[in-house]
Amino acid sequence: MKRREFLRNAAIVAASSSIATKVMAADPSKSLLKEETLSSSASREVSLIDSEPVLQNYATTSMGIAFSVTDWANGYVIYGEKPDLSDGRKVWCGGYRMTAMDNEVVQVRLTGLKPSTLYYYKVGADRIEYKDGYHIRITGNEEKPQIYSFRTAGKGARTHFCVINDTHASWKAFNSTINKVMEVHPSCVIWNGDACNTEETIAAQKRIFFKPEIERKDYAANIPYLFCPGNHDNRGLANRHLERIWMYRQPEERQARDWDLGRNFAVRMGDIAFIGLDTGEDKLDTNPKFCNLFVSEPYRVAQQAWLRDALKQPEIASAPYLVACCHIPLFDPRPDVNPGDLYPTDVDNEHKGNFAEWQRTCAKLWGPLLDEAGCQLLLTAHQHVYRIDLPDEKHKWMQIIGGGPNMTGKDKGHFPTVIEGEVKDGKLVITIHNIYTGRVCGTVTFSNRRG
Ligand SMILES: [Fe+2]
Ligand SMILES: [Fe+2]
Repeated sequence: MKRREFLRNAAIVAASSSIATKVMAADPSKSLLKEETLSSSASREVSLIDSEPVLQNYATTSMGIAFSVTDWANGYVIYGEKPDLSDGRKVWCGGYRMTAMDNEVVQVRLTGLKPSTLYYYKVGADRIEYKDGYHIRITGNEEKPQIYSFRTAGKGARTHFCVINDTHASWKAFNSTINKVMEVHPSCVIWNGDACNTEETIAAQKRIFFKPEIERKDYAANIPYLFCPGNHDNRGLANRHLERIWMYRQPEERQARDWDLGRNFAVRMGDIAFIGLDTGEDKLDTNPKFCNLFVSEPYRVAQQAWLRDALKQPEIASAPYLVACCHIPLFDPRPDVNPGDLYPTDVDNEHKGNFAEWQRTCAKLWGPLLDEAGCQLLLTAHQHVYRIDLPDEKHKWMQIIGGGPNMTGKDKGHFPTVIEGEVKDGKLVITIHNIYTGRVCGTVTFSNRRG
């Protein structure tokens, strides 16, 4: 996104009383930087970096690292392969040409990394006072002493993952869910959508991803995440630009044709190939409720072409296990459940509800490709009820739907889950943890699809 556009949007959505907000609200067309000095002496008492780092977009040769800041900051990451970072390299936020100085979120992309390799890192930022293009001062520096680590994806990575979903900023459920993830300590976590509710401000987004009201605020500082958006991650003015908080994947992972598919992933972790798909909104683009503000339909079609090619990549095609993830289920055994293609307003007389409980359009577009490629398991979410759908004549893959944020103990299947997968003794063992009871509520074992 262009810087100007970012600032304009920030002005609309920012809840804080930052200088940027005041200036842009007065006249968004004027240069922000002519009118005011960025940074205020009053805010200098406040810590510049006010969150733990979040490892975004688990990948073979790159890693996204983001953190929250309280003032104009030029952030960076120092990383290396030695635990004391004596071989450390400094990488500034943003991409080429200029850094991504920002007063809300710092996003650093590490690229050119080695696959399946352990890296150590720490984060820091310069506090910037910016009067105009020639009058800029560094008024302080904050470098966190804590050294974190992560291991990149690749064939040599440990085959061990967790899936969480529908956390919905429901802190009690989220806290217990994350505590289980930290206990399991997988190689990566797939966040399978609906992290959000309806987020109108950057502050609200930061509360979810950087400053959640849970015990383990370092939840993603040493464990990288893969993010599969849910319908709620699209909703609210701020969520229309969720990439300000959770960066898109590296462009070199995909073809030029797929330049805008920044949320899809095809990642190898040890013996598993993971595919990430985005089912989009759970209402039709034609539903008047959302006033033509969503275009999920062509997005789903574009992902079909991406998926077809992604499944042919050698490291994906050769994996002993193929697991796909998307937020809205691609199958439902109940004939009266809304399949998301009831044009134009999501209702008819034969189905319940007015939004997609499952996604028949995506199932038609992607399901046959997943079958053909030998996908064994599809991990979905959205319905807030844990369920396993066995393969049948319509699809060869098993579907496991993770539960929702309900911590009351009422209603069968209504509880949060952590779906853990690990290859043990040549088998992929899936263990579903019931986060309400603290007990295991299901296990499934898969054999190597390559025989
Ligand atoms: Fe949800
Ligand atoms: Fe959902």
